[in-house]
Amino acid sequence: MIVTVCSEKGGVGKSTLSAHAAVRLAMTGKPTLLIDADPQGTSYYWSVQRRQHRPDADQVDCEHLAGNLIETVRQHIRYYRHIVIDCGGADSTALRSSLLIADRAIIPTQVSRRDLMAVSHIGSLISEANESRTTPITARVVFNRTNPLPTFWTRIDEAREAIEAKGIEVTDAVIRQRVAYDDSEQYGGTVYEHNDEKAKSEIESVLKILLRKNPSQEPAK
Ligand SMILES: Nc1ncnc2c1ncn2[C@@H]1O[C@H](COP(=O)(O)OP(=O)(O)O)[C@@H](O)[C@H]1O
Ligand SMILES: [Mg+2]
Repeated sequence: MIVTVCSEKGGVGKSTLSAHAAVRLAMTGKPTLLIDADPQGTSYYWSVQRRQHRPDADQVDCEHLAGNLIETVRQHIRYYRHIVIDCGGADSTALRSSLLIADRAIIPTQVSRRDLMAVSHIGSLISEANESRTTPITARVVFNRTNPLPTFWTRIDEAREAIEAKGIEVTDAVIRQRVAYDDSEQYGGTVYEHNDEKAKSEIESVLKILLRKNPSQEPAK
């Protein structure tokens, strides 16, 4: 499976979700590659730290790349069963090419007006990519860093409706704001190796939806 994690906004959780998706796929025992297409190299640094400090954890190979990714991904998918692309926070050739080659697009966003505008632009890039693809990419927005207060639910529902009105699907499961995400990334970790069980089961529910073979089979609401 080839998964691109994309948003043109920084700080929405692309690198966090890329690392968790790559580790979750590597946990199946299949060779997994994480492509860091962000000039900042957050994911690449994370993977180097993981290999160095957590040699017994499930490992993912990582390459730091830029520009058109299509040829490299085509070559790597002969060996790697799974490839996860962390696209970086800008409209780029890497991002656009990833939308042409990937099976899945995961779009993390926060529930704020500015972030939602960025989702809308990714929606147009996806539509553009679909015009050149034989089958449309399976794209899902996931809300990240949500607030657990019940008063926030209305905001989530409204944001979901606004995104779905533009023809982009949103996962039911959301990722809450939790220190575990920040704390666990130290030394190349994820919440899978951390002590917060709620964070672990939350990311598992989200990734189950995003990475399952047939993502249209979301669990009933
Ligand atoms: N659900 C969350 N709760 C708390 N902190 C989070 C959450 N998701 C991401 N973060 C933190 O927010 C920061 C930015 O996330 P990151 O994945 O690097 O964003 P991006 O790659 O989109 O720029 C990181 O320090 C990360 O640990
Ligand atoms: Mg990043």
